[in-house]
Amino acid sequence: MIDLRSDTATLPSPGMRRAMAEADVGDEQRREDPTVLRLERMAAAFLGQEDAVYLPTATMANQIALAILGERGTELFVEATAHIMISELGGAAMHSGLQTRGVVGDRGRIAPEQLPPPVHPSDAHHRPRPSVLAIENTHNSSGGTVWPLADVQAVTAAARDLGMRLHLDGARVANAAVALGLPAAEVCRGFDTVTLCLSKGLGAPLGAVIAGSEELMRKARVEKHRFGGAMRQAGVIAAAGVYALEHNVARLADDHARARRLGEALVGAGVAVDLEQVQTNFVQIDVGAMGVETGDALQRLRDAGVGLTATVNHGVLRAVTHLDITDQDISEAISAIPAALGAHGGA
Ligand SMILES: Cc1ncc(COP(=O)(O)O)c(C=O)c1O
Repeated sequence: MIDLRSDTATLPSPGMRRAMAEADVGDEQRREDPTVLRLERMAAAFLGQEDAVYLPTATMANQIALAILGERGTELFVEATAHIMISELGGAAMHSGLQTRGVVGDRGRIAPEQLPPPVHPSDAHHRPRPSVLAIENTHNSSGGTVWPLADVQAVTAAARDLGMRLHLDGARVANAAVALGLPAAEVCRGFDTVTLCLSKGLGAPLGAVIAGSEELMRKARVEKHRFGGAMRQAGVIAAAGVYALEHNVARLADDHARARRLGEALVGAGVAVDLEQVQTNFVQIDVGAMGVETGDALQRLRDAGVGLTATVNHGVLRAVTHLDITDQDISEAISAIPAALGAHGGA
């Protein structure tokens, strides 16, 4: 199967496996694992932050960020289809006592005027105080779309004026940076905490980091232990993260080019794709607009040897390119997808 379901589908490459096998290791929980310490230093530099903490998953990174930035009984603002809102099982409420307000965005982006007006002192006894703004870049549910930096700066400045703290769910911030042609540190500037996932486009089998100031990362280490994320000889997996940061960042441009090629060819074959949304490694296909039901479309595609997934958007599937998808795979998908969906002609 040509597995375009997600960029989490990547398998560790031979070079990455060698690095894992040869990793120097120690007790990570005691901060004695040299490979984990190296990865944390590299990730902090990559993200332009003082320090970083190695974690098993990006969900844990997001949840730790909310735990250290939030305050019980206050409000977390996120875009209505962000991962934190729809895919973390209400963790913000469960772990951190936060009330989450989902704001309907434009391609995942929230505008400054969508933030709440300041709480007037006469209202402070009953209105929850907005305490955290979390944004997602790239934005998964919107098809891997990238926030222009000016939009990030506008909404984060407005949130700061309201006294809010800022988290970037940058699970795919390396994709955003490559798409913008900027260092990742630039894309992460101004946030208190940043999540980076190592097991999506970067190709590690697992692992993520949270990054931020030294003071916040001290708190993050406490929460990491509390969440049960403090490990032992974790250098074996952290070595995959080191390898990913050294070898797999710049090459994300190849995934983006393949997604673009796929998207353009599908449009040419009469498949409903909004090319404006194809900004990184996702191609969203509106099978609903083509009169095909989602489950039926997925089955037909599977039968044709192509794996896609449904999205949170009704009638919309996604194809995601990653480092195990070749030019040849894209050529085959370009023939198989329109045929499976019964597309007719070009646009
Ligand atoms: C934007 C975003 N944040 C966080 C996550 C969580 O990643 P993990 O599966 O490593 O917990 C995902 C996973 O798809 C994601 O897309």
